[in-house]
Amino acid sequence: MIHDPNKVYIFDTTLRDGEQVPGCQLDTDQKIIIAKALEVLGVDVIEAGFPISSPGDFQSVVELSKAIKNPTICALTRAIKGDIDVAAESLQYAKHPRIHTGIGASDMHIKYKFNSTREKILERAVDAVKYAKKFVEDVEFYAEDAGRADNAFLAKMIEAVIAAGATVVNIPDTNGYCMPDQYGDKILYLKENVKNIDQAIISVHCHNDLGLATANSIAGVINGARQIECTINGIGERAGNTALEEVAMILKTHSLGLHTGINSKHFTEISGMVSRMMHMPVQPNKAIIGKNAFAHSSGIHQDGFLKHRENYEIINPEDVGLNSADIILTARSGRHALKHHLERLDYDIEKINIDDVYERFLVLADEKKDISDDDLLFLMSNGETESYK
Ligand code: KIV
Ligand code: ZN
Repeated sequence: MIHDPNKVYIFDTTLRDGEQVPGCQLDTDQKIIIAKALEVLGVDVIEAGFPISSPGDFQSVVELSKAIKNPTICALTRAIKGDIDVAAESLQYAKHPRIHTGIGASDMHIKYKFNSTREKILERAVDAVKYAKKFVEDVEFYAEDAGRADNAFLAKMIEAVIAAGATVVNIPDTNGYCMPDQYGDKILYLKENVKNIDQAIISVHCHNDLGLATANSIAGVINGARQIECTINGIGERAGNTALEEVAMILKTHSLGLHTGINSKHFTEISGMVSRMMHMPVQPNKAIIGKNAFAHSSGIHQDGFLKHRENYEIINPEDVGLNSADIILTARSGRHALKHHLERLDYDIEKINIDDVYERFLVLADEKKDISDDDLLFLMSNGETESYK
Protein backbone atom coordinates (compact mmCIF):
# COMPACT_ATOMS: atom_id res chain seq x y z
CA MET A 1 0.00 0.00 0.00
CA ILE A 2 1.31 3.48 -0.92
CA HIS A 3 1.13 6.00 1.92
CA ASP A 4 1.24 9.77 1.66
CA PRO A 5 4.59 10.41 3.45
CA ASN A 6 3.28 13.66 4.92
CA LYS A 7 0.07 12.30 6.33
CA VAL A 8 -0.08 11.53 10.04
CA TYR A 9 -2.67 8.84 10.69
CA ILE A 10 -4.86 9.37 13.72
CA PHE A 11 -5.54 6.17 15.67
CA ASP A 12 -8.22 6.81 18.26
CA THR A 13 -8.22 4.57 21.33
CA THR A 14 -10.91 6.37 23.36
CA LEU A 15 -13.01 3.20 23.29
CA ARG A 16 -10.16 0.92 24.40
CA ASP A 17 -7.34 2.60 26.35
CA GLY A 18 -9.67 5.51 27.18
CA GLU A 19 -12.38 3.22 28.43
CA GLN A 20 -9.97 1.55 30.86
CA VAL A 21 -10.51 4.53 33.20
CA PRO A 22 -12.21 3.41 36.44
CA GLY A 23 -15.94 4.16 36.43
CA CYS A 24 -16.06 5.03 32.73
CA GLN A 25 -17.55 1.91 31.21
CA LEU A 26 -19.71 2.45 28.14
CA ASP A 27 -22.37 0.15 26.73
CA THR A 28 -22.36 -0.89 23.06
CA ASP A 29 -24.94 1.74 22.02
CA GLN A 30 -22.88 4.52 23.57
CA LYS A 31 -19.74 3.17 21.87
CA ILE A 32 -21.52 3.23 18.51
CA ILE A 33 -22.56 6.87 19.03
CA ILE A 34 -18.97 7.86 19.88
CA ALA A 35 -17.52 5.78 17.01
CA LYS A 36 -19.85 7.48 14.51
CA ALA A 37 -18.75 10.88 15.84
CA LEU A 38 -15.11 9.79 15.48
CA GLU A 39 -15.82 8.81 11.88
CA VAL A 40 -17.27 12.27 11.19
CA LEU A 41 -14.24 13.80 12.94
CA GLY A 42 -12.05 12.04 10.37
CA VAL A 43 -9.98 9.59 12.42
CA ASP A 44 -8.23 6.88 10.41
CA VAL A 45 -8.40 4.04 12.93
CA ILE A 46 -10.81 3.31 15.78
CA GLU A 47 -9.53 0.88 18.39
CA ALA A 48 -12.87 -0.64 19.34
CA GLY A 49 -11.89 -2.86 22.25
CA PHE A 50 -10.05 -5.85 23.66
CA PRO A 51 -12.44 -8.63 22.60
CA ILE A 52 -11.05 -11.46 24.76
CA SER A 53 -11.48 -9.34 27.90
CA SER A 54 -15.29 -9.71 28.17
CA PRO A 55 -18.38 -10.70 26.16
CA GLY A 56 -19.43 -7.02 26.24
CA ASP A 57 -16.15 -5.90 24.68
CA PHE A 58 -16.41 -8.63 22.04
CA GLN A 59 -19.97 -7.58 21.15
CA SER A 60 -18.97 -3.91 20.92
CA VAL A 61 -16.24 -4.73 18.39
CA VAL A 62 -18.77 -6.76 16.35
CA GLU A 63 -21.34 -3.93 16.35
CA LEU A 64 -18.80 -1.20 15.62
CA SER A 65 -17.47 -3.29 12.73
CA LYS A 66 -20.97 -3.32 11.25
CA ALA A 67 -21.71 0.36 11.91
CA ILE A 68 -18.49 2.05 10.75
CA LYS A 69 -17.57 2.39 7.08
CA ASN A 70 -14.42 4.44 6.56
CA PRO A 71 -12.03 4.14 9.49
CA THR A 72 -10.16 0.91 10.11
CA ILE A 73 -11.61 -1.02 13.06
CA CYS A 74 -8.92 -2.37 15.33
CA ALA A 75 -9.08 -5.02 18.07
CA LEU A 76 -6.42 -5.47 20.75
CA THR A 77 -4.89 -8.79 21.74
CA ARG A 78 -2.00 -10.14 23.75
CA ALA A 79 0.53 -12.31 21.89
CA ILE A 80 -1.68 -15.30 22.57
CA LYS A 81 -3.39 -17.41 19.89
CA GLY A 82 -6.70 -17.56 21.80
CA ASP A 83 -6.83 -13.74 21.99
CA ILE A 84 -6.12 -13.47 18.27
CA ASP A 85 -8.82 -16.03 17.38
CA VAL A 86 -11.41 -14.05 19.33
CA ALA A 87 -10.27 -10.72 17.89
CA ALA A 88 -10.46 -12.10 14.35
CA GLU A 89 -13.99 -13.35 14.99
CA SER A 90 -15.08 -9.99 16.44
CA LEU A 91 -13.76 -8.22 13.32
CA GLN A 92 -15.53 -10.45 10.80
CA TYR A 93 -17.89 -7.65 9.62
CA ALA A 94 -15.29 -4.87 9.51
CA LYS A 95 -14.63 -3.29 6.10
CA HIS A 96 -11.06 -2.51 7.14
CA PRO A 97 -10.07 -4.84 10.01
CA ARG A 98 -6.83 -4.58 11.96
CA ILE A 99 -5.50 -6.85 14.71
CA HIS A 100 -3.29 -5.06 17.25
CA THR A 101 -1.12 -7.64 18.97
CA GLY A 102 2.02 -7.33 21.04
CA ILE A 103 4.13 -8.12 24.06
CA GLY A 104 6.47 -6.42 26.53
CA ALA A 105 9.79 -5.17 25.20
CA SER A 106 11.53 -3.76 28.28
CA ASP A 107 13.71 -5.97 30.48
CA MET A 108 11.43 -5.01 33.36
CA HIS A 109 8.39 -6.50 31.60
CA ILE A 110 10.33 -9.47 30.20
CA LYS A 111 11.60 -10.44 33.63
CA TYR A 112 8.87 -9.41 36.06
CA LYS A 113 5.73 -9.61 33.92
CA PHE A 114 6.55 -12.59 31.69
CA ASN A 115 9.28 -14.32 33.74
CA SER A 116 10.95 -14.92 30.40
CA THR A 117 14.00 -14.05 28.30
CA ARG A 118 14.56 -11.66 25.38
CA GLU A 119 14.94 -14.62 22.98
CA LYS A 120 11.65 -16.26 24.00
CA ILE A 121 9.76 -12.95 23.91
CA LEU A 122 11.09 -12.27 20.41
CA GLU A 123 9.82 -15.65 19.30
CA ARG A 124 6.37 -15.01 20.78
CA ALA A 125 6.20 -11.60 19.10
CA VAL A 126 6.98 -13.06 15.68
CA ASP A 127 4.60 -16.00 16.16
CA ALA A 128 1.77 -13.67 17.17
CA VAL A 129 2.19 -11.48 14.09
CA LYS A 130 2.39 -14.52 11.79
CA TYR A 131 -0.72 -15.98 13.40
CA ALA A 132 -2.70 -12.71 13.14
CA LYS A 133 -1.68 -12.47 9.45
CA LYS A 134 -3.66 -15.67 8.79
CA PHE A 135 -6.85 -13.67 9.52
CA VAL A 136 -6.21 -10.08 8.39
CA GLU A 137 -3.76 -8.28 6.13
CA ASP A 138 -3.40 -5.30 8.46
CA VAL A 139 -1.53 -6.30 11.63
CA GLU A 140 -0.18 -3.77 14.10
CA PHE A 141 2.43 -4.87 16.63
CA TYR A 142 2.94 -3.11 19.99
CA ALA A 143 6.21 -3.38 21.90
CA GLU A 144 4.83 -2.67 25.36
CA ASP A 145 6.95 -0.44 27.61
CA ALA A 146 9.16 0.43 24.62
CA GLY A 147 9.81 3.74 26.38
CA ARG A 148 12.04 1.90 28.88
CA ALA A 149 13.30 -0.80 26.52
CA ASP A 150 16.88 -1.18 25.36
CA ASN A 151 17.03 0.40 21.89
CA ALA A 152 19.16 -2.32 20.30
CA PHE A 153 16.80 -5.07 21.46
CA LEU A 154 13.76 -3.01 20.47
CA ALA A 155 15.21 -2.55 16.97
CA LYS A 156 15.77 -6.30 16.68
CA MET A 157 12.19 -6.99 17.75
CA ILE A 158 10.72 -4.42 15.36
CA GLU A 159 12.77 -5.73 12.43
CA ALA A 160 11.60 -9.29 13.17
CA VAL A 161 7.90 -8.42 13.42
CA ILE A 162 8.02 -6.39 10.20
CA ALA A 163 9.64 -9.37 8.48
CA ALA A 164 6.77 -11.46 9.88
CA GLY A 165 4.23 -9.13 8.24
CA ALA A 166 3.45 -6.27 10.66
CA THR A 167 2.11 -3.28 8.73
CA VAL A 168 2.27 -0.86 11.68
CA VAL A 169 4.76 -0.93 14.57
CA ASN A 170 3.65 0.73 17.76
CA ILE A 171 6.32 2.04 20.15
CA PRO A 172 4.39 2.69 23.37
CA ASP A 173 5.73 4.77 26.21
CA THR A 174 3.41 2.69 28.38
CA ASN A 175 4.42 4.32 31.63
CA GLY A 176 4.77 7.89 30.40
CA TYR A 177 8.43 7.76 31.39
CA CYS A 178 10.29 9.35 28.49
CA MET A 179 11.31 12.95 27.92
CA PRO A 180 10.52 14.31 24.45
CA ASP A 181 14.17 14.20 23.30
CA GLN A 182 14.57 10.61 24.53
CA TYR A 183 11.38 9.47 22.85
CA GLY A 184 12.18 11.33 19.63
CA ASP A 185 15.68 9.78 19.63
CA LYS A 186 14.16 6.32 20.10
CA ILE A 187 12.01 6.75 17.00
CA LEU A 188 14.99 8.08 15.05
CA TYR A 189 17.10 5.15 16.23
CA LEU A 190 14.50 2.73 14.84
CA LYS A 191 14.35 4.69 11.56
CA GLU A 192 18.11 4.42 11.23
CA ASN A 193 18.72 0.90 12.56
CA VAL A 194 15.78 -1.24 11.46
CA LYS A 195 16.61 -2.39 7.91
CA ASN A 196 13.01 -2.95 6.76
CA ILE A 197 11.44 0.00 8.66
CA ASP A 198 10.10 1.56 5.44
CA GLN A 199 7.80 -1.43 5.01
CA ALA A 200 5.74 -0.37 8.06
CA ILE A 201 4.28 2.75 9.62
CA ILE A 202 5.78 3.73 12.97
CA SER A 203 3.12 4.55 15.54
CA VAL A 204 3.49 6.55 18.75
CA HIS A 205 1.44 5.66 21.83
CA CYS A 206 2.27 7.87 24.80
CA HIS A 207 0.91 8.05 28.33
CA ASN A 208 0.76 11.22 30.33
CA ASP A 209 2.27 10.29 33.71
CA LEU A 210 4.70 13.23 33.54
CA GLY A 211 2.39 15.46 31.51
CA LEU A 212 4.50 14.79 28.39
CA ALA A 213 2.25 12.58 26.26
CA THR A 214 1.51 15.26 23.67
CA ALA A 215 5.09 16.55 23.53
CA ASN A 216 6.43 13.00 23.18
CA SER A 217 3.98 12.13 20.41
CA ILE A 218 5.00 15.20 18.45
CA ALA A 219 8.69 14.43 19.02
CA GLY A 220 8.01 10.97 17.61
CA VAL A 221 6.31 12.37 14.54
CA ILE A 222 9.10 14.88 13.92
CA ASN A 223 11.52 11.94 13.94
CA GLY A 224 9.59 9.81 11.49
CA ALA A 225 6.48 8.28 13.11
CA ARG A 226 3.34 8.61 10.98
CA GLN A 227 0.60 7.37 13.28
CA ILE A 228 -0.44 8.87 16.61
CA GLU A 229 -2.50 6.86 19.10
CA CYS A 230 -4.63 9.15 21.20
CA THR A 231 -7.96 9.71 22.93
CA ILE A 232 -10.59 12.42 23.06
CA ASN A 233 -9.95 14.70 26.08
CA GLY A 234 -6.74 12.70 26.73
CA ILE A 235 -8.62 10.16 28.84
CA GLY A 236 -6.96 6.84 29.61
CA GLU A 237 -5.11 4.72 32.15
CA ARG A 238 -3.77 6.65 35.17
CA ALA A 239 -2.88 10.17 33.95
CA GLY A 240 -4.30 9.41 30.53
CA ASN A 241 -3.18 9.11 26.92
CA THR A 242 -2.13 11.70 24.36
CA ALA A 243 -5.06 14.07 23.72
CA LEU A 244 -6.26 13.78 20.12
CA GLU A 245 -7.38 17.42 19.97
CA GLU A 246 -3.95 18.64 21.11
CA VAL A 247 -1.83 16.75 18.58
CA ALA A 248 -4.23 17.57 15.74
CA MET A 249 -4.15 21.30 16.55
CA ILE A 250 -0.34 21.29 16.91
CA LEU A 251 -0.01 19.79 13.43
CA LYS A 252 -2.52 22.33 12.09
CA THR A 253 -0.94 25.34 13.83
CA HIS A 254 2.73 24.64 13.10
CA SER A 255 4.19 24.28 9.61
CA LEU A 256 5.85 20.90 9.96
CA GLY A 257 4.82 19.92 6.44
CA LEU A 258 2.50 17.28 7.92
CA HIS A 259 -1.26 16.94 7.91
CA THR A 260 -4.06 14.80 9.34
CA GLY A 261 -7.56 14.06 8.04
CA ILE A 262 -9.16 15.58 11.16
CA ASN A 263 -11.93 18.17 10.87
CA SER A 264 -11.20 20.11 14.05
CA LYS A 265 -14.55 21.95 13.94
CA HIS A 266 -16.07 18.90 15.64
CA PHE A 267 -13.78 19.01 18.69
CA THR A 268 -16.05 20.92 21.07
CA GLU A 269 -19.01 18.69 20.31
CA ILE A 270 -17.21 15.34 20.56
CA SER A 271 -15.32 16.41 23.67
CA GLY A 272 -18.62 17.21 25.44
CA MET A 273 -20.14 13.94 24.25
CA VAL A 274 -17.25 11.83 25.60
CA SER A 275 -17.12 13.78 28.84
CA ARG A 276 -20.86 13.33 29.50
CA MET A 277 -21.05 9.67 28.51
CA MET A 278 -17.96 8.74 30.51
CA HIS A 279 -18.81 10.97 33.48
CA MET A 280 -15.35 12.53 33.18
CA PRO A 281 -15.50 16.32 33.49
CA VAL A 282 -12.93 18.23 31.42
CA GLN A 283 -10.67 20.48 33.49
CA PRO A 284 -11.51 24.14 32.69
CA ASN A 285 -7.93 24.98 31.64
CA LYS A 286 -7.53 21.91 29.38
CA ALA A 287 -5.88 22.92 26.08
CA ILE A 288 -8.20 23.26 23.07
CA ILE A 289 -11.46 22.06 24.67
CA GLY A 290 -11.43 23.33 28.29
CA LYS A 291 -14.11 25.87 29.23
CA ASN A 292 -11.42 28.56 29.66
CA ALA A 293 -9.26 27.62 26.65
CA PHE A 294 -10.55 30.64 24.71
CA ALA A 295 -11.60 32.85 27.63
CA HIS A 296 -9.69 36.04 28.35
CA SER A 297 -10.08 37.33 31.87
CA SER A 298 -7.27 39.70 32.85
CA GLY A 299 -7.60 43.36 31.93
CA ILE A 300 -4.22 43.49 30.11
CA HIS A 301 -5.09 40.47 27.95
CA GLN A 302 -8.63 41.67 27.26
CA ASP A 303 -7.37 45.06 26.14
CA GLY A 304 -4.71 43.51 23.86
CA PHE A 305 -7.18 40.97 22.49
CA LEU A 306 -9.75 43.64 21.66
CA LYS A 307 -7.07 45.70 19.84
CA HIS A 308 -6.11 42.68 17.72
CA ARG A 309 -7.30 39.17 18.57
CA GLU A 310 -4.01 37.57 17.49
CA ASN A 311 -2.26 39.41 20.31
CA TYR A 312 -3.65 36.67 22.57
CA GLU A 313 -5.12 34.04 20.26
CA ILE A 314 -3.09 31.42 18.34
CA ILE A 315 -6.12 29.37 17.32
CA ASN A 316 -9.36 30.71 15.93
CA PRO A 317 -12.07 29.38 18.30
CA GLU A 318 -14.28 28.66 15.28
CA ASP A 319 -11.66 26.11 14.14
CA VAL A 320 -12.52 23.95 17.16
CA GLY A 321 -16.26 24.47 16.94
CA LEU A 322 -16.78 27.46 19.24
CA ASN A 323 -18.64 30.58 18.13
CA SER A 324 -16.16 33.05 19.52
CA ALA A 325 -13.61 33.73 22.20
CA ASP A 326 -14.91 34.73 25.60
CA ILE A 327 -14.10 38.00 27.31
CA ILE A 328 -15.01 37.34 30.93
CA LEU A 329 -15.95 40.39 32.95
CA THR A 330 -14.33 40.36 36.38
CA ALA A 331 -12.90 42.97 38.76
CA ARG A 332 -9.67 42.69 36.72
CA SER A 333 -11.35 43.80 33.48
CA GLY A 334 -10.70 47.23 32.09
CA ARG A 335 -12.96 49.82 30.44
CA HIS A 336 -12.21 48.38 27.00
CA ALA A 337 -13.73 45.01 27.92
CA LEU A 338 -16.72 46.65 29.57
CA LYS A 339 -17.38 48.77 26.45
CA HIS A 340 -17.06 45.66 24.28
CA HIS A 341 -19.84 43.91 26.21
CA LEU A 342 -22.07 46.97 26.36
CA GLU A 343 -21.79 47.36 22.58
CA ARG A 344 -22.58 43.67 22.18
CA LEU A 345 -25.73 44.31 24.22
CA ASP A 346 -26.60 47.16 21.81
CA TYR A 347 -25.76 50.15 23.99
CA ASP A 348 -24.50 53.29 22.27
CA ILE A 349 -21.17 53.89 23.99
CA GLU A 350 -21.07 57.53 22.88
CA LYS A 351 -24.10 58.24 25.03
CA ILE A 352 -22.80 56.53 28.16
CA ASN A 353 -20.79 58.06 30.97
CA ILE A 354 -18.36 55.14 30.91
CA ASP A 355 -16.33 56.31 33.94
CA ASP A 356 -19.45 56.27 36.06
CA VAL A 357 -20.59 52.84 34.80
CA TYR A 358 -17.07 51.43 35.21
CA GLU A 359 -16.91 52.61 38.82
CA ARG A 360 -20.21 50.91 39.65
CA PHE A 361 -19.15 47.86 37.63
CA LEU A 362 -16.04 47.46 39.80
CA VAL A 363 -18.08 47.58 43.00
CA LEU A 364 -20.41 44.88 41.66
CA ALA A 365 -17.53 42.79 40.27
CA ASP A 366 -15.81 42.81 43.67
CA GLU A 367 -19.00 41.45 45.18
CA LYS A 368 -19.90 38.93 42.49
CA LYS A 369 -16.61 37.84 40.89
CA ASP A 370 -18.04 37.12 37.39
CA ILE A 371 -20.39 39.63 35.77
CA SER A 372 -23.15 38.27 33.54
CA ASP A 373 -25.26 39.99 30.88
CA ASP A 374 -28.07 40.26 33.43
CA ASP A 375 -25.72 42.06 35.81
CA LEU A 376 -24.80 44.53 33.07
CA LEU A 377 -28.45 45.16 32.26
CA PHE A 378 -29.05 45.77 35.96
CA LEU A 379 -26.13 48.21 36.11
CA MET A 380 -27.34 50.05 33.04
CA SER A 381 -30.93 50.25 34.24
CA ASN A 382 -29.61 52.00 37.29
CA GLY A 383 -29.35 55.50 35.76
CA GLU A 384 -28.21 54.70 32.22
CA THR A 385 -31.40 53.36 30.58
CA GLU A 386 -31.89 56.38 28.29
CA SER A 387 -28.79 55.43 26.30
CA TYR A 388 -30.22 52.00 25.35
CA LYS A 389 -30.75 52.13 21.56
O1 KIV B 1 0.20 1.63 26.80
C1 KIV B 1 0.35 0.58 26.15
O2 KIV B 1 1.45 0.02 26.06
C2 KIV B 1 -0.82 0.00 25.51
C3 KIV B 1 -0.61 -1.16 24.60
C4 KIV B 1 -1.54 -2.27 24.90
C5 KIV B 1 -0.70 -0.70 23.18
O3 KIV B 1 -1.92 0.49 25.67
ZN1 ZN C 1 -1.73 2.52 26.47
